Amino acid sequence: MIDIVTPGTNQNRAQRKCSQRSLALRSATRLLAAAALALTPLFASAFDLQGHRGDLLLRRAARLLAAAALALTPLFASAFDLQGHRGDLLLRRAARLFAAAALALTPLFASAFDLQGHRGARGLAPENTLPAFAAALSLGVSTLELDTAITKDGVVVVSHDARLNPDITRGTDGRWLNASTRAVRELTLDDLGHFDVGRIKPGSDYSRRFPDQKRMDKVYMPTLAQVFQLARRAGNSEVRFNIEIKTSPEKPGDTLAPEDFVRGLLALIEREGMTSRVIIQSFDWRALKSMQELAPKIPTSYLSAQQRFLDNIAAGKAERSAWTAGIQFSDHGSIPKMVKAAGGAIWSPNYPELSAELVKEAHALGLQVVPWTVNKTEDMARLIDWGVDGLITDRPDFLREVMAEKKLPLPKPTPVTP
Ligand code: G3P
Ligand code: CA
Repeated sequence: MIDIVTPGTNQNRAQRKCSQRSLALRSATRLLAAAALALTPLFASAFDLQGHRGDLLLRRAARLLAAAALALTPLFASAFDLQGHRGDLLLRRAARLFAAAALALTPLFASAFDLQGHRGARGLAPENTLPAFAAALSLGVSTLELDTAITKDGVVVVSHDARLNPDITRGTDGRWLNASTRAVRELTLDDLGHFDVGRIKPGSDYSRRFPDQKRMDKVYMPTLAQVFQLARRAGNSEVRFNIEIKTSPEKPGDTLAPEDFVRGLLALIEREGMTSRVIIQSFDWRALKSMQELAPKIPTSYLSAQQRFLDNIAAGKAERSAWTAGIQFSDHGSIPKMVKAAGGAIWSPNYPELSAELVKEAHALGLQVVPWTVNKTEDMARLIDWGVDGLITDRPDFLREVMAEKKLPLPKPTPVTP
């Protein structure tokens, strides 16, 4: 007797049910693949715009997505097998690819803590010089922090001081300069080649503060282009540059006006193809306003200090701050709110002025918090526990140790000679 299978038999119903389930699984796979595709640029853009880290929420979402992909991939595979279906090869491959991509991306987001070498690695080598940047790259940092000035002939150079600093600058006679010095803007790049900045003046306060800084000879103020070139030579295509614009409303004659400074700096950054790897920081928020207008995609980092040596916030003072581009503490009530109102991506406070509450407030406003300049390991550990997004330090070697203790992934060392 021959069994004739007609529509409506039990076997046919089972087959239909099976193929419905398979269809549902395939739809789920497609949905997941589509979600991954749709979300990836989101992570990527957050990664770029937010200064190499992406915000906390996105990082958590990335981890969740990776975990979900991992958990679901075997499910797809076994579901197809159990039902006797070979499944759609392409879809299974897509699911595996997605899981692999999620896995590969997770450490990228997880390694988000930003280790910034201050003036390169000022605790170890002469500040803002190629040896200091080489030391930082060789140890492994995620960002090189540096300060800029513009010469008479329009070259962007790396210098903390608008005027040559007598504590670190020697003339051709080998002697440290006297207190009265000339502004970088009055000198050409060739002129700067006559001043050695490799050795701190013995007996100065600066010398006592940095006993481990290597003393060197024949070290000159580098151009910003040379620092970019050093990173290229190190084979480091990841490291970012937190570039400070050193203009001051209190000393307008020492530098170009903020907008002209920004134009000069931006032209160099664009010429060097570095727009996606820079962060622009300043105490002079007028410069950051100009930068936002001219290059809205470049993240801006708002520096604050409330000290005798510099108070750019003027909280509780009768006079308005000339530093903050019209954004006043009295109108906003907190520095994170001022930074948010200014359109900043990052708040970079003087670390002793920070608290756990302020970190929370800044995060709630979607800002990253990257304090400066933290050189003691106990301070580093406390600030990491408060949830800061990065630290600026003269001692990247110490911060790497603390990060390792905290199980934070470390930036890759890229050994290079200056
Ligand atoms: O990046 C912040 C920090 O560098 C600001 O202070 O004086 O060292 O440039 P300063
Ligand atoms: Ca600086």
